Amino acid sequence: MQKEGKALKRLTRNGDRLMSDFSKNKNIFIFDHPLIQHKITCLRDRSTGTAEFRKLINEITMLMGYEALKDLAVEDAEVETPIEKCSSPRLKGKKQAIVPILRAGLGMTDGLLSLLPTAKVGHIGMYRDEETHKPHSYYCKLPKAIEKRIIIVTDPMLATGGSAIDAINFIKERGGKKIKFMCIIAAPEGLKALAKAHPDIQIYVGHLDRQLNKDAYICPGLGDAGDRIFGTK
Ligand code: PRP
Ligand code: URA
Repeated sequence: MQKEGKALKRLTRNGDRLMSDFSKNKNIFIFDHPLIQHKITCLRDRSTGTAEFRKLINEITMLMGYEALKDLAVEDAEVETPIEKCSSPRLKGKKQAIVPILRAGLGMTDGLLSLLPTAKVGHIGMYRDEETHKPHSYYCKLPKAIEKRIIIVTDPMLATGGSAIDAINFIKERGGKKIKFMCIIAAPEGLKALAKAHPDIQIYVGHLDRQLNKDAYICPGLGDAGDRIFGTK
C-alpha cells in the first residue's frame, strides 16, 4: 500500500515512452502477458523465499519460452491415431542448445528443458566485478555442432548488458549462429547495448524496468538474482 506523503517509485510499465525506443526493432520482444507480469511482481517481492523464487523463475521461463520458440521449424510426420493414419507436424530435427549464463541463468534451464527435453545444455560462467561492473568469464563449455543449433542463452537479469554481450561473443567465436537471448528483467541501458553489439540475435524480455542505479543494479528489479535463486545471501 502507498505510504502517506511518499509516492511509490513508478515502474516503467510496458507501453511507456521507453518501450517505444525499442518497438521498431523487430528482434526485440517485450512481453506484456498478464500471467508473466503477475509472476514477475511476485519475484520482485523481497519477502518471496528461495523455493517460491525458483518456482516462479521456472514458470515465467516456460511462459516466455512458448512464445520465444514459436519460429522453430516443423515437418510433417505420419502418425496412426486410434482412428486413422494422418500426417501431422512435429519439430524438425533435435538441434537446439540451451546455454545458461552462470549462475542465475541456470534457474531458467529446467523451464526450457520441459519444452525441449532433447536439447543439449552448455554453460558459460561469468561474474561481474563489484567495482567496475565489468564481466569476467571463468567457464565455457558448449554442445558439439554448435554451428547447426538454435541456441537459447538464458540469464534472468540484463543490467549493463556486459555479461550477455561477452557470453554471445564466446558462442559466436565457437561457431554459433542462430542465437536467442531470454531474460526476465532488463534495464534500458543493457537492452540497448546488447541490441547494438549483436543486432542479429532475437532478444526476449519479460519486463523492461526503469533504469540502473549507481551500483549497476536494475531499478526496481528484484535484487541479486543468483543469490535469490541459490539462497546465498
Ligand atoms: C548477474 C546476472 C547477470 C549479470 C547482469 O550475474 O545474473 O549475469 O549480473 O549484469 P550485466 O548485464 O551488468 O552484465 P552476477 O555477475 O551477479 O553473477 P551470479 O549469477 O553468479 O550471481
Ligand atoms: N545482476 C542482478 O542479479 N541484479 C541486478 O539488478 C543487476 C545485475
